[in-house]
Amino acid sequence: MGSLVNKRILLGVTGGIAAYKSADLVRRLREAGAEVRVVMTDAATEFITELTLQAVSGYPVHRHLLDPEAEAGMSHIELARWADAILVAPATADFLARLVQGRGDDLLATLCLATSAPMAVAPAMNQQMWRHPATQQNVDSLRHRGVQIFGPGEGSQACGDVGPGRLLEPAELAQLTAGLFQTGVLDGVTVMVTAGPTWEAIDPVRGLTNKSSGKMGYAIATAAAEGGARVILISGPVSLTPPDRVETVPVVSAQDMFDAVHARIDQIDLYIGVAAVADYRPVSVAPHKLKKTADSMNLELVRNPDILASVAALPSAPFTVGFAAETNDLEMAARHKLEAKRIDLVCANLVGGDEGGFGADENRLLLVDREGTTELPLAAKSRLARDLIHHISRKFHAKNRTQDTRRAHRR
Ligand SMILES: Cc1cc2nc3c(=O)[nH]c(=O)nc-3n(C[C@H](O)[C@H](O)[C@H](O)COP(=O)(O)O)c2cc1C
Repeated sequence: MGSLVNKRILLGVTGGIAAYKSADLVRRLREAGAEVRVVMTDAATEFITELTLQAVSGYPVHRHLLDPEAEAGMSHIELARWADAILVAPATADFLARLVQGRGDDLLATLCLATSAPMAVAPAMNQQMWRHPATQQNVDSLRHRGVQIFGPGEGSQACGDVGPGRLLEPAELAQLTAGLFQTGVLDGVTVMVTAGPTWEAIDPVRGLTNKSSGKMGYAIATAAAEGGARVILISGPVSLTPPDRVETVPVVSAQDMFDAVHARIDQIDLYIGVAAVADYRPVSVAPHKLKKTADSMNLELVRNPDILASVAALPSAPFTVGFAAETNDLEMAARHKLEAKRIDLVCANLVGGDEGGFGADENRLLLVDREGTTELPLAAKSRLARDLIHHISRKFHAKNRTQDTRRAHRR
């Protein structure tokens, strides 16, 4: 079974007879590690109760679009942003048609319009309804738009017919949902990510550090691994669990991080520096805990090595991505960093404000390179990390193609 650990799945349930299987599907998704929120159409409530799906998901079911109370809690836009993926199972013929038309006449249809998350539908209907040219055209156009179509299966149906149109079994649907995250965009690529803060010791118990939580770097390492990459994560001191399928190397100071990066740099194709590395460290570390004797004290600091610039300056440098955390003039600061350090891409984020940045679960990013600027809007860090990995992979493959073409011309 593929993993859905830390994934937020929005399950849409529409009004088909197979809706009775949704309770088992919620259970399977949760067993694979997902957090599941359920949205039901009005027709779905005729086939399975809201209470059942609330009980198995552990959250109230969302049903109404025009409900001030619901909007005051988790609004349709927040729900759309919350989801890492949307799965509609079962999806009726009617719902497929509404999805194709881009209707916003109920909560589920509106959510599907308002999200940028990957989406899958699991059609379930009478075999004649499935074979109808209208349904087939709708499915084709959804597939063309990038919506994944799970099933349907074949066999005997509730109405007594035999043929295609059965909802796939819940275990198979959970497996296919996990597959939505295995994108393969970095298959065969080795990626190094640095994450978290560094700790610059003053004495055995005190040090200089910053507010980086490591969440963004860990989410990026996870997204790169889901993209098929071999991932080496060099992590400063954080209180996060090392991600699955990622080789995690714990370090403490900026110098440790520099050494750990350069010890493995020959193995990698792509470097993503997310760590908030201290610019300075104390000139010397006191061997014993400093005593409170004088009224004031001076701490002399010395520059730390610039890890990002040192990687970008290597003769055969990997594709290099840096992060810039700024409190103002975001794009200008990012462009300056891009040129000053000769890197391929800068991901800039505002810190010190009310939303996003250090410690938060959500963030927004401005991606700046020599071709222009792209904005990734406010989203959960896990979602943002996946969108970022897609963006980086496109840039990485494009640069490699250009270099291969140049090499071929020189030959
Ligand atoms: C007993 C019964 C079973 C139904 N089963 C299905 C079904 O399996 N698949 C389907 O596409 N429509 C089925 N329908 C029709 C849908 O319920 C109907 O098109 C409804 O408007 C769907 O609304 P929704 O897409 O908003 O959930 C069934 C209707 C009834 C009365």
